[in-house]
Amino acid sequence: MCGIIGYIGKNNTIDVLLNGLYALEYRGYDSSGIAINVDNKISLIRSVGRVSKLEEKIKSLNIKDGVYGIAHTRWATNGETNINNAHPHKVGRVTIVHNGIIENANILKEKLVKEGYHFNSDTDSEVVAALLDYKLRDDNILDSIELLKKELVGSYALGIIIDESDELYALRKDSPLLIGIGDSGNFIASDITAIIKYTSDYILLDSGDIAVLKANSYEIYNGNKKINKEVLKSTSSNIDNDKNGYNHHMLKEIMDEPQVISNLLDRYNNSRNWEEVDLSKYKSIDIVACGSAMYAGLVGQVLLEEYANIKTSVYAASEYRYKKKIYNDKTLVILISQSGETADTIAAMREVKKLGIDTLAIVNNSNSTIAREVDRKILTEAGVEVAVATTKAYILQVCVLSLISYVTSYKKGLLKDGVSYSDFYKLPSLIDLVIKNTDKYREVVSMLSKSESCFFIGRGIDYAICMEGSLKLKEISYIHSEAYQAGELKHGTISLIEKGIPVIAIITDKTLKEKTLSNLREVEARGAESIVITTEELEDNDKHLKIVIKSANRFLDSMLAVCVLQLLAYYVALDRGCDIDKPRNLAKSVTVE
Ligand code: F6R
Repeated sequence: MCGIIGYIGKNNTIDVLLNGLYALEYRGYDSSGIAINVDNKISLIRSVGRVSKLEEKIKSLNIKDGVYGIAHTRWATNGETNINNAHPHKVGRVTIVHNGIIENANILKEKLVKEGYHFNSDTDSEVVAALLDYKLRDDNILDSIELLKKELVGSYALGIIIDESDELYALRKDSPLLIGIGDSGNFIASDITAIIKYTSDYILLDSGDIAVLKANSYEIYNGNKKINKEVLKSTSSNIDNDKNGYNHHMLKEIMDEPQVISNLLDRYNNSRNWEEVDLSKYKSIDIVACGSAMYAGLVGQVLLEEYANIKTSVYAASEYRYKKKIYNDKTLVILISQSGETADTIAAMREVKKLGIDTLAIVNNSNSTIAREVDRKILTEAGVEVAVATTKAYILQVCVLSLISYVTSYKKGLLKDGVSYSDFYKLPSLIDLVIKNTDKYREVVSMLSKSESCFFIGRGIDYAICMEGSLKLKEISYIHSEAYQAGELKHGTISLIEKGIPVIAIITDKTLKEKTLSNLREVEARGAESIVITTEELEDNDKHLKIVIKSANRFLDSMLAVCVLQLLAYYVALDRGCDIDKPRNLAKSVTVE
């Protein structure tokens, strides 16, 4: 999603802004731009495509460095990807960068056109710049920004420059924004990673806060009153642009999985910490999340129902926020999010909190909105995930849900199959085995990468894994892919099966093995090329392509199978020459509805 960086200080402004934009690249974007104040004139440079193209353009124009500036990576929402729609936008005396969506932009635009304003872009953001310029005709800067707040409906994080002013301004509502406090200047950023190279001291702006930055000082106002806010220290590390010898962040992040899982298991090795993951007091759970995080929830649903005997439902946050909630004082809502900034998940959390329902977040970013506002949280601590497609953060979400199911089941005296916590420690080395055995994938990869469509089938927990495997494949390789409950395919979708279409069956659940195999035979009979991903003990004798993994137990096998699917998606995308770490149209953190 869009990213913001602003800087005022003694360092080279263009360098700081470009470094910030490079650090924000992982969020996903399609154009970028900077505005800097050079000798009291604003220079605006924008470019479609990668930040490296913007950098080339800046160099070719031989722009002098400025005393302050703002910059932006844009992920198109209102208006297509082109230079005019790229940020910053300058109207009259006002230059802005904007994250979020202004819902009443069309109404405001009509009024501003009547006041003589012309618009060069299709964006809602340009309307904000025009409106502030209009307000500045009659008022001073701070009063004008206060008036702007009153007229804007929607979400916004804004970095603002006003001609002839020697200050930078920042303003937010519902879209994340912080200011960084450094020894050699001050910053505005939508995400701490943009400025962590320069400072780890920051202040989170709350909705309605206006920050005024100079090189050596800052002030924050809300409702015309000056306010004091706590300066926080970030523990985030510099975005790890080092791929550790791998060609892509995605592959490096899959390789990190054994280590990050080990770290998580160490945290709960002492059963005194189990209180955090014991949900035995709840009678029903709603898991609410988006995309892969929701699919992690589907794995959790199976485990929580089967082992902890708690009725569990899974919802897309974009639906849950608007639906009627059926709950009582024994209901828990679990929010799952890597970024902790997904707009729909935040909105769902706030709805739930208003109703007084208990909330628990499984979240990776400890500084995020969800981590700050939720009742209680479990941090996945995967570290920063740079590739847009989630891998290590997803697997940790599943691992946390497995731990929750295990501990809750243990506390309720329901544990069966002789599973013990020490079994969880088999997981890192078994994932290592999966990672090292990729030679076996070659045939499957070459079959998939030639296809334009494929299907994943499974039952129970295996269906939950299919959902993630299918998403991973389609998002980075652009192959159309669908995941189906194995028994459902014949109720309509089987009409799409024709000669040569790959169908991948996941079989890690012993009780459902024969059922899924018979569904696979149904598609084989119609010409499908079948592939089975299963465990050693469930391997069948049919003649299809197989990837066989060493099994651990029911709490853990889903993670092993998912690791296979992540690697398959990676190698297929590699074979097809796709931009693996930054797939088209996607954003790392989806901060709009
Ligand atoms: C897919 C992917 C997305 C995210 C989803 C939720 O690889 O990364 O589907 O899982 O956008 O994001 P978070 O977890 O940040 O709330």
